[in-house]
Amino acid sequence: MSLQKSFNIQTFGCAMNEHDSEIIAGMLTSLGYTDNKEKNNADVAIINTCSVRDNADKRFYGILGELKKIKENNSDFTVCLCGCMMQQQHIIDTVKQKYPWVDIIFGTHNIHEFPKLLTSVLSEKQKLVDVWEEAGEIIEGLPAKRDSHFKAFVNIIYGCNNFCTYCIVPFTRGRERSRMSADILKEVNELVKDGVKEITLLGQNVNSYNGDVDFPGLIYLLDSIEGLERIRFMTSHPKDLSDSLIQTFAECEKLCSYIHLPVQSGSTNVLNRMNRKYTKENYMKLVDRLRAANPGISITTDIIVGFPGETDKDFEDTLDLVKKIEFDSAFTFLYSIRKGTPAEMYKDQIPEEVKHERFNRLVDLLNEISLKKNKELEGCVVKVLVEGISKKNEDSLTGRTEGFKIINFNGNSELIGSIVDVEVIKGKTFNLDGKYIQKFIV
Ligand code: 5AD
Ligand code: SF4
Repeated sequence: MSLQKSFNIQTFGCAMNEHDSEIIAGMLTSLGYTDNKEKNNADVAIINTCSVRDNADKRFYGILGELKKIKENNSDFTVCLCGCMMQQQHIIDTVKQKYPWVDIIFGTHNIHEFPKLLTSVLSEKQKLVDVWEEAGEIIEGLPAKRDSHFKAFVNIIYGCNNFCTYCIVPFTRGRERSRMSADILKEVNELVKDGVKEITLLGQNVNSYNGDVDFPGLIYLLDSIEGLERIRFMTSHPKDLSDSLIQTFAECEKLCSYIHLPVQSGSTNVLNRMNRKYTKENYMKLVDRLRAANPGISITTDIIVGFPGETDKDFEDTLDLVKKIEFDSAFTFLYSIRKGTPAEMYKDQIPEEVKHERFNRLVDLLNEISLKKNKELEGCVVKVLVEGISKKNEDSLTGRTEGFKIINFNGNSELIGSIVDVEVIKGKTFNLDGKYIQKFIV
C-alpha cells in the first residue's frame, strides 16, 4: 500500500455540488492527498449529498450501508458527509442516531474549513459535526481540481432568495451572495491560460447576479477575454430574464446559443402556488423574445409534474405550453415533498399513479419534440467542443454543440479539447450522429 493518503468523493445533484466537489478535491490535493477512483481503497471517503434530485437521499443511505462495511474492517477509514442534505437538522439527527461511526459532517457554507476539520479529526480521533446555519463571506482563491481541462464551472452567485414553495434550496444554500467581477475575471483568465475553452457561470439564479456590475454587464466583460471561446450560464429564473440579458444573445459572440430556462409548469394557477412570479403567457413571450434575438437558440427546461392541486386542466396547460414552445429537451421531475418547504403543508397532494401517468405522457411528448428538433439539424454543420472518446464506441469522439446537444462522430483523438466543425448526419431523440468536417480556426 502506498504511503500517500488518498480520497474518494461521490457527488450527487446539480452542477453546484459538482463544482463544490472539485474544490474539496483541490483542497485535499493541496494537502498531499491523491484522488482515488476506487472508493473501497481510499483513506478518506466524502459524500457530497443532494436534497433535490430524485432518489438521491435513498441512494445516500444505501452508500452509508456500504461504507459501514469498509469501516468495520479498517477503523482508520474516515467517512465525511457534506452538501445540501447536511444543512437539514432532521438528516443530521438521523445520521447521528443510525450511523454514529460517520467521522465528519460539514455543510454547504463551510467547505473551505474542511481541511482544518479533517486534520483535527485525524489527530484527535473524535467525531465532528460543523454545519453553519448561515453563510459567511465569500471565500476567494480556493483551489479546484477540475474534471475537465477545457471546460470549467465558475460560480458567480451563491444561494437563492426566491422561495419557490416546493424547493429546499433557499434553506440549504442560504441567501444570495454575488462575487465581485474582478474575482470572476481573474479566475476565468487563469482558466483560459490553463487551456480552458468553455466556461459555465453557475448560480441557483444567475440572472439576479448583483456584484459590482449586473449579469449582462458581467457577460460583456467575459465576452472580451481573449482565448475564451464559449460562455454558458445556469440556471436562469424566467422572472429575472431582462431585455438587456436577452440582448447579450444577439451581441456576445462567445455566448452559446443556448439557455436552460426552467418553466416548472405551464399552468398559471400552479405557477402562482409555486410562487414563481410569472404566468404561462409571460414565459411564452420571453421565449419569443429570445428567439427574435437569436433565432437558432436551443432552449431546455425543468418541469415538475404533480405539484399539489395540479388538475387535469393544469396538466393540459403544461402539455400545451410544451407543444407551443418545442423545447430542445427537458428534465422532468415527479413532485415530491421536501420537509420544511411551504408545499409540504399543501392539502391536495396528487396520488402517485396520477403523477406517473401524467409524467409518462409528458415525457413521450417531450421526446417526440426532441427527435423532431434534432432531425431538423440533419445536414447542418455545427461547432462542437470535442470532450473525449465516446463511452459507447471507442472509435468515436463525443462533444457538445453550442446548443448543448451531445454529438458523436468519427475522428482522431488529437481533436479532443478543440472546437471543430461537424456535419449532423442523424438526429436522434437524445443525441446526434455527425461527420467530422474540419478544425475550427478562430
Ligand atoms: N419535487 C420535484 N422536483 C423538484 N425540483 C426542485 N424541488 C423539487 C421537488 N420538491 C426540481 C425543479 C428544479 C430542479 C433542479 O429540481 O424542477 O428546477
Ligand atoms: Fe429553488 Fe426556485 Fe431558488 Fe430555483 S429559484 S433554487 S427552484 S427556490
